[in-house]
Amino acid sequence: MIYNGPENVMAMTSSGLSGSPSEPRSGPIHADLLSSLPRTGTEPLAPGAVLLRGFATAVAPTLLADLESMLAQAPFRHMVTPGGYRMSVAMTNCGAAGWITDRSGYRYDPCDPTSGMAWPPMPASFDQLATSAATQAGYPGFVTDACLINRYEPGARLSLHQDRNERDFAQPIVSVSLGLPATFLFGGLRRSDRPRRLRLESGDIVVWGGPSRLAFHGIDSLAEGEHPLTGRYRINLTFRRAR
Ligand code: SIN
Ligand code: FE2
Repeated sequence: MIYNGPENVMAMTSSGLSGSPSEPRSGPIHADLLSSLPRTGTEPLAPGAVLLRGFATAVAPTLLADLESMLAQAPFRHMVTPGGYRMSVAMTNCGAAGWITDRSGYRYDPCDPTSGMAWPPMPASFDQLATSAATQAGYPGFVTDACLINRYEPGARLSLHQDRNERDFAQPIVSVSLGLPATFLFGGLRRSDRPRRLRLESGDIVVWGGPSRLAFHGIDSLAEGEHPLTGRYRINLTFRRAR
């Protein structure tokens, strides 16, 4: 089994914290252990929306290796908005449908417009993670058919928007952060609602659905940095049920 799930992470956390009575921890060693523990836990953000801290940390190297092997077929590219702007975030997709934008609008398409071929299939590591994160967030039975993969370099940003090209708004969005940290903007149902600012680190997952399904969200301009898993990038996997 590729994905370890939150139970194992929790187990690591509690054994690390309690230690063994026969081996008392001295102050500095204990502090060191604490700082190396994974950050985990479920933080409610709004009705229907939660942040699962560190939920993808254990599987992150597998996700990135699986991503690497699909890039030859469907490389990252900077798409153009209907208004004619080149997006600063580079994107690709996998799964039965891929989200695209061009001068004619936003939509899902079974084919990559660059190659004319189907998007790469969704790796098992991706779809297992999407389902287990959705379940943890209160959306059991979520089956993804579309993964948008966003690559941010320092300076790249995604302005406030709603995800509304999907057919069924009863299905949540599952959004996985890998690599460099980012500031996630999570607003309300109106563009004018002032968004919360949340720091997302590698392994964090945000799930929004139900009353928050059409919440405005975005990513602030990415800060310069270097991450052991991704170098100078942040990678985001956004799982949807498109059809
Ligand atoms: C998105 O809204 O498609 C991406 C959000 C993110 O990068 O965290
Ligand atoms: Fe989005």
